[in-house]
Amino acid sequence: MCGIVGINGAPDVCFDLLAGLKRLEYRGYDSAGVATLFNKEFHRQRAEGKLINLERIVKEHPLPGIIGIGHTRWATHGGPTTSNAHPHQGQYVALVHNGIIENHRELRAGFDQTLFQSETDSEVVVHLLDAYIKKGYDHAAAIQATLPQLKGSYALAVLFKNAPDTLVGICRGSPLVIGHGKEGRLFLASDIFAFADYCESVTYLEEGDWTELKNGTVTIYSHGSTHPVTRPSLPISADIASQATKGLYRHFMLKEIMEQPEVLQNTLEKYAHSEAWLTKMPTNPWKKASGLSIVACGTSFYAGCVAKYWFEEIARLPVAVDIASEYRYRHPALPADSCALFISQSGETADTLAAARFTKQKKIYCASLVNVAESSLAREVDQVFQTYAGFEIGVASTKTFTTQLIVLAALTAEVALLRGEISAEERATLQKDLLMLPRLVEETLKIQGSLQRLAPQFERVKAALYLGRGALYPVALEGALKLKEISYIHAEGYAAGELKHGPIALIDDKIPVVVLAPHDVLFEKILSNVQEVLARKGQVILFTDNDGARALNTLAEGMQVCILPKVCSFLAPIVYTVPMQLLAYHVAAFKGTDIDQPRNLAKSVTVE
Ligand code: AGP
Repeated sequence: MCGIVGINGAPDVCFDLLAGLKRLEYRGYDSAGVATLFNKEFHRQRAEGKLINLERIVKEHPLPGIIGIGHTRWATHGGPTTSNAHPHQGQYVALVHNGIIENHRELRAGFDQTLFQSETDSEVVVHLLDAYIKKGYDHAAAIQATLPQLKGSYALAVLFKNAPDTLVGICRGSPLVIGHGKEGRLFLASDIFAFADYCESVTYLEEGDWTELKNGTVTIYSHGSTHPVTRPSLPISADIASQATKGLYRHFMLKEIMEQPEVLQNTLEKYAHSEAWLTKMPTNPWKKASGLSIVACGTSFYAGCVAKYWFEEIARLPVAVDIASEYRYRHPALPADSCALFISQSGETADTLAAARFTKQKKIYCASLVNVAESSLAREVDQVFQTYAGFEIGVASTKTFTTQLIVLAALTAEVALLRGEISAEERATLQKDLLMLPRLVEETLKIQGSLQRLAPQFERVKAALYLGRGALYPVALEGALKLKEISYIHAEGYAAGELKHGPIALIDDKIPVVVLAPHDVLFEKILSNVQEVLARKGQVILFTDNDGARALNTLAEGMQVCILPKVCSFLAPIVYTVPMQLLAYHVAAFKGTDIDQPRNLAKSVTVE
């Protein structure tokens, strides 16, 4: 995923572009660039690596003009070099692009190859538009002629020399929003976050829209036409702007971990507080469904894996959980009376979105669980559940995972009731448990100091194992993912009972083995697995509650025990996630890695 921004009407536009890019840097940080149009000439600066490199250059050599575009890149086609950095420019056109032009090779073949200065898919759009302008088309006619030739997804911000007062935005398959600023300043960006504190209102472009931002006026057209359409402008809440800063924290990730009691509470208020629990839920598809397919990527996939345990045990609904990039290609058997649920923080992950479109085509009832209410995945399904986690800027997902889990837990209870698997009283008990979560998570966060003290032990560690059983197994997978992502230590999650079938060969006196062991029905089982590790001198770090700690007896001497609050087994996955996040965070902080923007990653991956 890349971040794009465009601004029209700002004196010193290049610095405002940099400020917008700073807010979007979480979307990609392989290279960055800005371009302005002034006196019928493009002025451009680009730099490899993080935005700070570009900022240094622009500070020394500011770009003139009041209209400009900028880009922060997560490399897909072509390496993270300066020549592949956006904006790309031709004779008459300069543009920035987020998305993929799937038929770029075919289109490229139609041009004189010496025109191309980069290996990107995006540059071909420049030359297509340029070619029409050369033929005498105006910018609108060039757009109309170009768009039908493009296959794939794109959000584009474009400058045309023959329309020097106009900033053009085009979107299909990738999001683009318009910000209405003060004194006629207009903004285009991949997300509202880029301009939230400069603008009072926002307009979300719809699929296939293109727009002209000129002299303080916005005109929107649909599907390449030149007939204006109306899209609503919505006020931007002060809360969004305040989420842009780290406050007292060193990293967004830690801030977001610590925000969990509050965002869990916000999410609960929408789902579990009122009498009318999940009232908007159409009953039929869920009540009668023969099965549920859950499809997602990364952390969201692990949330789906936890939900499988819940739905099957409590609602007796058979669930298949798929990694989105595998799902379509394995030709899944989807009974006509089944439902599908797509989980995605961003709601823009290409693999998940493609999976949802594939499922819709099969006429299966599709729901999504997203954090971004205006995302494509929210717009394209039959039913949307939202998490109220607020913006998540740290690339590693934290608060969005636990809020996903809380919605999935509430949904499980509701579906179980609908299907007659639990009584109203039983559901009320689950509701009561859910409502205790913010307090339990708050208490769990107090373990931070001991995890920070534990972190130096990981200094020379090459690999770590995470073990869990039941619904704690996906939490082990998520814990291992967190450690990998931000500390670059190889880590694997296993179902503890599976250890003896192979991974036990990895155990020696150097490998930390993180064990998630609440004192529940599986406690004795996991303890046997722990003994297998201890017998081979594995370094066990065991997370349990007071009852578990007591039950360990002398075994506790051979390991490090971290005590968490007592929680019912239904909700243990949420509470036990928190120390996994904190452990990964403090190991990474100790190692000094780039926690909020780990190498090679982007916040959401909008390419397949
Ligand atoms: C998690 O820490 C990662 N950032 C990643 O695995 C992420 O969960 C995955 O890319 C899916 O993103 P989504 O939830 O926005 O679809």
